[in-house]
Amino acid sequence: MTDGKDFLELIISRQSDRKYSDRHIEKEKLDRIIEAGRMAPSACNAQPWKFIIVDDPELVLKVADAASAKLIGMNSFVAQAPVIIVIVREKSNMSSKVGATIKNKDYSLFDIGIATENICLQSKAEGIGSCIIGWFDEKIIRKLLEIPRSKRVELLITLGYSLSEQREKRRKPAEEKVSYNKY
Ligand SMILES: Cc1cc2nc3c(=O)[nH]c(=O)nc-3n(C[C@H](O)[C@H](O)[C@H](O)COP(=O)(O)O)c2cc1C
Repeated sequence: MTDGKDFLELIISRQSDRKYSDRHIEKEKLDRIIEAGRMAPSACNAQPWKFIIVDDPELVLKVADAASAKLIGMNSFVAQAPVIIVIVREKSNMSSKVGATIKNKDYSLFDIGIATENICLQSKAEGIGSCIIGWFDEKIIRKLLEIPRSKRVELLITLGYSLSEQREKRRKPAEEKVSYNKY
């Protein structure tokens, strides 16, 4: 079992890495990274996701193009990633849907967020950098990867051996974000 302090260290050291070398990601590492996503908890165990692994270099460039906003230079780094994981939202099961209606909450987005962080943490543990990408042209990605029109593409995750420097974490103070026993 992982030591608590080491695990927190892993969480703190995970960062959005936006510069990658062209080093290939080993298959067994990639398999464990995907497995970490697949093992994520989800409301009523609905597992409302499908992970599409894009590792074909030509396709990576096309997906990267759909994620980059050239005018503002946003996400241009995506093209350096040897692997992009595309997360498609799948239908929830009946109990999750009923819960969502009664409680007015779309649990499937939480589920996808949790799976995403599992993937990023496992990547970090494997020595591989990652960045979650929420800004992209969904229509183009759907077309590129033959994703049915009825499905939402929620997030991309870039993976690659990082060339980014380790940054200090910038987070709002705990006093602002945490309280005990009242708001
Ligand atoms: C849902 C979501 C969407 C994000 N989309 C992008 C994105 O499109 N491009 C990008 O460079 N970073 C993106 N990020 C990364 C955030 O900017 C980053 O997590 C945040 O600034 C905190 O920095 P850290 O991840 O290095 O701790 C996204 C993160 C999340 C959780």
